[in-house]
Amino acid sequence: MLSVRGVSKAYAGRRGETSALCPLDLDVGEGEFVSLVGPSGCGKSTLLHIVAGLEPATTGTVTLGGERVLGPGAELGVVFQQQTLFPWLSVRENVRFPLTLARHRGRARQAGSEREADRVERLLRLVDLWDFRDSAPAELSGGMQQRAALARALAARPEVLLMDEPFGALDAQTREEMQGLLLHVIQHHRIMTLFVTHDVEEALILSDRVVVFSERPGRVVATFDVPVPRADRSPDLKLDEALLRLKRDILSLLRGRARPEEQRRRLLLGLTHTPRGEDP
Ligand SMILES: Nc1ncnc2c1ncn2[C@@H]1O[C@H](COP(=O)(O)OP(=O)(O)O)[C@@H](O)[C@H]1O
Ligand SMILES: [Mg+2]
Repeated sequence: MLSVRGVSKAYAGRRGETSALCPLDLDVGEGEFVSLVGPSGCGKSTLLHIVAGLEPATTGTVTLGGERVLGPGAELGVVFQQQTLFPWLSVRENVRFPLTLARHRGRARQAGSEREADRVERLLRLVDLWDFRDSAPAELSGGMQQRAALARALAARPEVLLMDEPFGALDAQTREEMQGLLLHVIQHHRIMTLFVTHDVEEALILSDRVVVFSERPGRVVATFDVPVPRADRSPDLKLDEALLRLKRDILSLLRGRARPEEQRRRLLLGLTHTPRGEDP
């Protein structure tokens, strides 16, 4: 299990400190897919970077299976919004890179004793890039680059997948294809995932649980369970009644947080429900 306990972040800047995150607790259970949604600048990326061990927390701790996360490692696979493939390596070399790194660190996992080359091929086929294995990242479209980044993140058999708006820069159609692909991947690999998005619909399609952040400094204002079994999920769930209701609730919560007087009006009109375990 991934546990975030009392993690907060304040950035020191020229004009004093910026508080990016309030102390917060968050758990991701075995095989669970959790999304974070919240207004821009509320600290979502900050939290993901802290969990990834790429940024120190000001207070609090992150543990994985009871062990402190103190820096990036093979147990954490990351996919960010911006292009992060190594431009001088081919697609196949990019996907193989974490395996080579793990081998050099003597941390290669023998699980299933799958050969490195076989694993790379299987992942490239999974993300439908086998035909482009020898291409350079610059020769790929944005969607293909993110597929390669996903394959690379999965290569070293991470315990946790951390994704920060991985489809945020893609056009609507490619984005939907990527959501379908990610659903396919998580239906086959039950891997703990922490997924950041500003797209509530995307969060609902993919997640077991959606965590809503307040404006900066971010804190958890509500948590929603998504009542759809993983096997029944597809990007078409946009048409699902229960999901549309959840979407409306989350959006009005986000809007309510942005405009307190609107929130008050909704409360007076009885339009706002109280999400699980949180203040309205
Ligand atoms: N490296 C940094 N130095 C100083 N301030 C930062 C840094 N990174 C982020 N911030 C600030 O922290 C806040 C949260 O940023 P971020 O985590 O990127 O938000 P989000 O991903 O939710 O849009 C913002 O106000 C941002 O300006
Ligand atoms: Mg961000």
